[in-house]
Amino acid sequence: MSAFAHGKVILFGEHAVVHGYPALAAALSRGVHASATAAARDALHVPAWNATYEPGDESALARALAGAFGALPSPRPGLAVRADVELPAGAGVGCSAALGVAVLRALHEATATPLSEERLLELGYDWERQFHGNPSGVDHTVAAIGGALLFRRGAPMERIRPRHPTRLVVAYSGESASTRETVASVARQLERRPSEVRATFEAIETVVKNGVHALVEGDARALGQLAEMNHMMLASLMLSTERLERLCDSARRAGAYGAKLTGGGGGGCMLAVVGEDAEPVLAALRGEGADPFEVEVGR
Ligand code: PMV
Repeated sequence: MSAFAHGKVILFGEHAVVHGYPALAAALSRGVHASATAAARDALHVPAWNATYEPGDESALARALAGAFGALPSPRPGLAVRADVELPAGAGVGCSAALGVAVLRALHEATATPLSEERLLELGYDWERQFHGNPSGVDHTVAAIGGALLFRRGAPMERIRPRHPTRLVVAYSGESASTRETVASVARQLERRPSEVRATFEAIETVVKNGVHALVEGDARALGQLAEMNHMMLASLMLSTERLERLCDSARRAGAYGAKLTGGGGGGCMLAVVGEDAEPVLAALRGEGADPFEVEVGR
């Protein structure tokens, strides 16, 4: 048996979401598949990274793993989990959260331990905390639930049901970035310039709210404009890089309705809102040496 969890893109609202503002996010069809089998020692194998982790090791992943194994009832056999990761790590597409949710599901499946959605979200949050320090919870929620969600910290999530699909192109800049660091940098800016940064968060909230309507209607032009605005707001929080700017420009010049960084920023991924034909944008981004892929939200 294999468990699955989705990667995600944040359409609008990253960073502000850490501070209680809403974010609009959507699941990717790619993510992480995991399965667990009885073994002499507890371990996690990730063939894509050519790596094995054990719960006692000294790394964020090993600590997250210890929490996941620790949540199982005892006595139990040793368990080896194999995770097939289809997402770039450290790229803003929710790789660590998808890994966590898939591993948690696989461990519970293998030990026939019931796992309610609520419990999975709780354990997923604990997992994410090992990586991000103060995660909003949007990543593991989308990883577990899929679809498109309006997420606000501490509030019930709202499922968004688009009437028409929207096409996006997501590209990894090749610069791996630490969400923990970019989240800490925004927190410092909030401390130093509270009224300006709060005003930026409020502007982002307006983008998110308009984004929900545009996504429901499949209005790619409006989504593109909102992406441009959200990107400027994120850039004003010093989250963009030269490389992200270049990729966003290149997508716009190839006909995208708009483009923005997505996720933690400081590198990682960008997304572009495209029309029926994504190929010119995909080709332009390939020409920049990025490895873009197409995402359809709301099908
Ligand atoms: O870089 P990612 O995929 O972990 O996305 C981070 C999104 C943030 O809003 C920056 C942080 C969070 O916890 O929501």
